[in-house]
Amino acid sequence: MKKYIASIIKEKLKHLVVDISEEEILYKIEIPSNKKFGDFAFPCFIISKKISVNPNSAALQLEELLINNEEFEKIEVVGGYINFTINKVNFAKKKLADILNPNFKKVINSQKKILIEFPSPNTNKPLHLGHLRNITIGESIARILESVGNEVVRVNLYNDRGIHICKSMLAYQKFGEDKEPDKKSDHFVGDYYVLFGKLAKEDDSYNQKAQEMLVQWENGNPEIISLWEKMNHWAFKGFEQTFAMLGIKYDKYYYESKIYKDGKNIVLDGLKSGIFSKRNDGAVIIDLTNEGLDKKVLLRPDGTTVYMTQDLYLAKLKDEDFNADNSIYIVGNEQDYHFNALFIILKKIGFQKQLMHLSYGMVELPEGRMKSREGTVVDADDFIEMVKQLAKAEIVKRYNNISEDELENKSLTITLAAIKYSLLKTGIFKNMIFNPKEALSFDGDTGSYLLYSYARAFSILGKINAELEKDGEVKEINEFEYELIKQLSNYQDVLKKSADELNPSIIAHYAYDLASAFNEFYHTCPVLKTEQAFVRISLVKAYVNIFKHILSLLGIDVLEKM
Ligand code: ARG
Repeated sequence: MKKYIASIIKEKLKHLVVDISEEEILYKIEIPSNKKFGDFAFPCFIISKKISVNPNSAALQLEELLINNEEFEKIEVVGGYINFTINKVNFAKKKLADILNPNFKKVINSQKKILIEFPSPNTNKPLHLGHLRNITIGESIARILESVGNEVVRVNLYNDRGIHICKSMLAYQKFGEDKEPDKKSDHFVGDYYVLFGKLAKEDDSYNQKAQEMLVQWENGNPEIISLWEKMNHWAFKGFEQTFAMLGIKYDKYYYESKIYKDGKNIVLDGLKSGIFSKRNDGAVIIDLTNEGLDKKVLLRPDGTTVYMTQDLYLAKLKDEDFNADNSIYIVGNEQDYHFNALFIILKKIGFQKQLMHLSYGMVELPEGRMKSREGTVVDADDFIEMVKQLAKAEIVKRYNNISEDELENKSLTITLAAIKYSLLKTGIFKNMIFNPKEALSFDGDTGSYLLYSYARAFSILGKINAELEKDGEVKEINEFEYELIKQLSNYQDVLKKSADELNPSIIAHYAYDLASAFNEFYHTCPVLKTEQAFVRISLVKAYVNIFKHILSLLGIDVLEKM
């Protein structure tokens, strides 16, 4: 509407021979805080200066040109402003038709192929709360990008080799007694990583032994390789269960163990062409001091590769595999430096594709609320389980007989909604504190509140009959209906913005605004027994349809009954 007003003002200003850009007009249009001044207001000071009259007479001259527009109920000049009051019935008629159109949800904004890598865990321990934020952000961005027309490829890198893996392996080799996992298998692996930590604290030689194990692994010692395969398999299996629970499917997995050596050739080529250089001790490095970074090692003096070496090759491999226009890495902000350097180096060696590190902040729990296995890291599965227990307690309060299955289902859906929404409503870059009790609250800015609002709307659908809808005309519109229509009609702009900015929190805030508008409407406007049944039923239908889609972009599944 603002844009529309800007366009007609621009058009009419031609008659007054005033030249101001439409953007500038758009920028100046205000939304009056007091409803008596209408829905939008345009200050005429900027034109009065140009035609050397006072603002009020400028406003009056312009107003004369604007009248007779059926979009507005009233156009009025007050104190140098032109106030526009929208013709709400007209607006509602038009927007309602748009919103109810099955094509409304389809927004085509960009048709690129975009590759997203997340969360790329190490295979020595289970996923933690940081991974949960990573996965939630990654999947939401993937869905948002898909919903505006892009093709998205989801990949996951397993960092499945190296000293950290050998640590879990060593502890298992010494104390595992060849046991099979007696719990979720990635947790089982993680327990040995923790055990290693304890052992190494008491006896420093363990670190040395892990290092020796790594050498044996690199030399292909069959016993070590088979231990490694066994334990990695447990880690993968456990991760897969968590991904499945979270609703994530990958198009491809990459394994560090398969690619870590290949980066070496890229480094040696770069050395030949003089992009990289040799340090006195034989390490191959790149000097990034001109770029404001350091000298970065790419091959150690003994010729072994580093984290960066693998990433040089992986970028090329992904490109060969998928030829995407754009490649996004969802990785925590502690690796900002790494990706900064990686992208500079890739550019220097001639890699041209667009790369982006989507760097997110840390998640912490309110202190003392939850003990974790390692003291500092909070396990993702345990965390989900804990929130689920809280959710179950809430559900049981509301239902006195609910089947075990239904309780399981409902509590998981509510839990994931609460967690995902809390993680997404915070801007990606910010560190955040996750408060489980708060996240579950049924009123307030929470995932449970959103689900509740959906279930409410959905329950109305079951009571509709054709008789109620038959008059099919918009005769009047009250402020609650109007507000809901306005919110619903923002959908396409919101979606485009969040896709352009790769920002799920825009969708999350919108979901909340939409739910709030619906709830106000629900409390003030009886849907089924009224003259207005057609309008109200249409609004409920549109809300159910659009809101469900919006929630799915956050990775949230709905419940038809709470
Ligand atoms: N596994 C790494 C970690 O846990 C993250 C890998 C990110 N992806 C990459 N291509 N470097 O820190």
